Amino acid sequence: MSDAPVIETRNVSMRFSEQQGWRGLFRVRPGKLALDAVNLTIRQGEVFGLLGPNGAGKTTLVKILSTLLIPTAGEARIAGLNVVRDGLRARRRIGVLYGDERLFFWRLSAVDNLMFYAALYGIHGKEARRRVLEVLDMVGLSESAHMRLHHYSTGMKRRASIARALLNDPDVLIMDEVNVALDPIAAAELRELIKERVTTGERTVLITTNVMAEAEFLCDRVAFIAGGRIQMVGEIAHIRNALQTNKVFEMVVGGLTNASIEALRAAPGVDALDVVPLDGKRYRLDLNLSSNGDTVPMMVRRVVETGGEVWSCGPRELTMDQMFAIIVGNSHKDAERERIPA
Ligand SMILES: Nc1ncnc2c1ncn2[C@@H]1O[C@H](COP(=O)(O)OP(=O)(O)OP(=O)(O)O)[C@@H](O)[C@H]1O
Ligand SMILES: [Mg+2]
Repeated sequence: MSDAPVIETRNVSMRFSEQQGWRGLFRVRPGKLALDAVNLTIRQGEVFGLLGPNGAGKTTLVKILSTLLIPTAGEARIAGLNVVRDGLRARRRIGVLYGDERLFFWRLSAVDNLMFYAALYGIHGKEARRRVLEVLDMVGLSESAHMRLHHYSTGMKRRASIARALLNDPDVLIMDEVNVALDPIAAAELRELIKERVTTGERTVLITTNVMAEAEFLCDRVAFIAGGRIQMVGEIAHIRNALQTNKVFEMVVGGLTNASIEALRAAPGVDALDVVPLDGKRYRLDLNLSSNGDTVPMMVRRVVETGGEVWSCGPRELTMDQMFAIIVGNSHKDAERERIPA
């Protein structure tokens, strides 16, 4: 991984104009700010996740980076090339795919479809065929290369889209919600494939998603975006530490009376204690501790001293879903409120 920024945005903003009915032909009102001064620097070889709820601005940013939309303000660069002024050259360096794209001819095979796209990239003849078979092999579609896409499963179609996006051997691969509408098994298979075959080497990869497990599995760094604004950027582990101000532990215990549970709740250093019944005999105690781990041995001792048993005890990390809720939760509520007509 080198330090050279391969994807760079400086104060990128996007405001879509709002046209209302036929009057919109004469009077265009300023619409919603879909992106608000977005600054991102993504280095060569990084797998970067852009995470955010529906309507956060992810696709808008992807379209700006892939030269399909011109930002209202700010500047974006791909491999040092300005996506507006140097759009054509920038576009040659990127491969883009959208999870909901319909870019294939369903009656044709994967090979025929990709030969068509290779020609659009100016690759022809034997060279095109070699490249098409190579990218189909990369995404594990060699055996079904000559099958009509009509017969492909959704997961296979998605892999064919990745193959299409890789045809021009791009420095930057952008995948917008590549997992949308896949069942959990197909989604997991696709994640594995992306990790093993696609995100390797020098290629810089930008993935947008709102599936947290996918981001955690694939990404070196992530940015959380909501309401068009970047809320937080960094490695997932760092963001988790920053959010986890209190220490959260879980302890599975048995043989405790209500009175002794209440005594534990009142113990010094315990901010909160939730009791989750497990199997009739045992409970899980979710502990929110104000100090670092010091309180834990004391809690274990108290359980044992009051005649209880400790089955397990350990720290509990925030899940990605919980992090998502903490970071974007408020702006999500604001956005819903905006949708309700006054
Ligand atoms: N062509 C357009 N014209 C007007 N508004 C648009 C247009 N495209 C997007 N928007 C608005 O911009 C905001 C951001 O949309 P965008 O599609 O970028 O979000 P997203 O993060 O990709 O969401 P999702 O998870 O649903 O794909 C939304 O409020 C959307 O309604
Ligand atoms: Mg989108």
